[in-house]
Amino acid sequence: MDETVRIATGTLLRVYADIDLLALELCTDRLPFAPSSEARKELMHQINEEVVHFTLQDRTLSPIGMPFSPVLTLAKRQEIKAWFSRLDWYGFLAGLQLGIEGIGIAIVERVSMHADPLTRESLRIPIIDEMRQTSFGTQEWRALLSKSSAREKELHRARVLQIFDHIYLLTAEALPVNFENYWAVLGLKKEDLWNAVRERTLLVLEQSGFEPGLPASFVA
Ligand SMILES: [Fe+2]
Repeated sequence: MDETVRIATGTLLRVYADIDLLALELCTDRLPFAPSSEARKELMHQINEEVVHFTLQDRTLSPIGMPFSPVLTLAKRQEIKAWFSRLDWYGFLAGLQLGIEGIGIAIVERVSMHADPLTRESLRIPIIDEMRQTSFGTQEWRALLSKSSAREKELHRARVLQIFDHIYLLTAEALPVNFENYWAVLGLKKEDLWNAVRERTLLVLEQSGFEPGLPASFVA
């Protein structure tokens, strides 16, 4: 593997592995406060899936000479986790299932298409599982919205867009990675990835039962 490709691949994979760990931590923090046994079951399911995702990526990182090390600092992790802990159940689902998993995976999919076969294989199962996790979140939201008035729906929608916005700003600040350069090494353009993110945001909102819309920071 070419040296610049190796570093780009390893760096991006470290970020994904660390986001899997963060997702695992967020689910674990939420577990005692899940609102139903079904919700608890789903969180435990996701925790198990994130363990698999991390293991797959960890196994891919070592042979390319970039063993895992966390990208998010302890302080940033704590800040993100504290912010999530203040969200109610639906806010949590909007942040993790719809935002990080549902929208974030659009970028992982594009990177995977441009990656070497070994890296692509390490992302195959995570991509499938994260779609399943997203569908849990969209179904929960759809059920809530079906019982909501037009006014409540509008308020929920504004809040979800704000949550997407906040997660983007929080993670962009917390990840000290020049993504644009690494994507370029793999033949990906920032604008194409942003288009993929915007398209996926609209899809996730539609699947949840919302009118279309984009967070402010996704439009700029
Ligand atoms: Fe994952």
